[in-house]
Amino acid sequence: QAADDYEQMEKAARFFAHQLRHHQNSAKVIEYLKNRGLSGEIVKAFQIGYAPDEWDGILKALSNGTASREQLVELKLVNKNEKGRYYDFFRDRVMFPIRDRRGRVVGFGGRVLEGDGPKYLNSPETRIFHKGRELYGFYEVRQAHRQPEQILIVEGYMDVVALAQAGINYAVASLGTATTTEQLQMLFRATPRVVCCYDGDRAGRDAAWRALENALPLLTDGLELKFLFLPDGEDPDSLVRQEGAERFEERLTKAQSFTDYFFSHLAESLDLNTDAGKSTLLKQAKPLIERIASDFYRETLMERLARLLRRETSQIANHIKAPAS
Ligand code: UTP
Ligand code: MN
Ligand code: MN
Ligand code: MN
Ligand code: MN
Repeated sequence: QAADDYEQMEKAARFFAHQLRHHQNSAKVIEYLKNRGLSGEIVKAFQIGYAPDEWDGILKALSNGTASREQLVELKLVNKNEKGRYYDFFRDRVMFPIRDRRGRVVGFGGRVLEGDGPKYLNSPETRIFHKGRELYGFYEVRQAHRQPEQILIVEGYMDVVALAQAGINYAVASLGTATTTEQLQMLFRATPRVVCCYDGDRAGRDAAWRALENALPLLTDGLELKFLFLPDGEDPDSLVRQEGAERFEERLTKAQSFTDYFFSHLAESLDLNTDAGKSTLLKQAKPLIERIASDFYRETLMERLARLLRRETSQIANHIKAPAS
């Protein structure tokens, strides 16, 4: 069953890619992608497609072959309503196939062209698709680089694709959820440096802090986690199109280390000239520092914390345990 699931998902990706070239709405969709700065080459490389504005596009295309309608429902390519009618899950959307680390299509993201409905619709979890374990663009990064020096994590499909269009072909996206420990683990197995580069808005800044929290247990010696904060209202797509790859990569070289970000975030709303501010910082920093795997990073943060609290590092170290390993 599973092997066949992947086959049907691959067929679906090919169907959507084919529709992009041959559907009657083709001109409109291609125009949309062009307006977003994408070349035919990059559209092909990511196998971007179009889910037609029909109720039985994918349904007919795949159930005429070997797939049963029930299998298509299992794969969430097709919905079944209370009356037992089957209909396409994605309609009139730009389609981004999501590949697992081995290159197999496991799900899709679909963007509305314009009009109403949620901007992005993702495949729900299925027996072959687990959102927290996949990263959009990871397979493509690995194809381009055997040992990437660094990998960027961004929020969206379009961020990954627009960066690749600009020549920055080492970005991945978590799939509309917070970046999980599993996703970070996958990245740190592929590269020693991960740079979080979320949107310049409240949600993006919250996502950055959650990524830091999730990364702490993974930070062993030699691994590096950095943060690039974008100007308000920008995301990697809008920024790289505005400034070009060179300026974007220049920003990247100035990305903040996680150790800097750690304290600037925690101290943001505290007055460290007061005892109350200092004790709050200690209380908040302690459990986080205790999760860090690397002795070196843990000690570095303890030293910085001691300086901020005007204590000796040894006094701080008395309060902080190493994680059980
Ligand atoms: P954003 O909300 O930042 O997308 O969501 P955007 O930058 O405005 O989109 P564009 O540039 O107009 O196309 C970033 C990511 O969050 C997930 C998707 O994975 C998306 O790529 N998302 C967003 C959803 O899953 N559903 C939504 O309704 C919105
Ligand atoms: Mn948005
Ligand atoms: Mn966003
Ligand atoms: Mn965005
Ligand atoms: Mn965007």
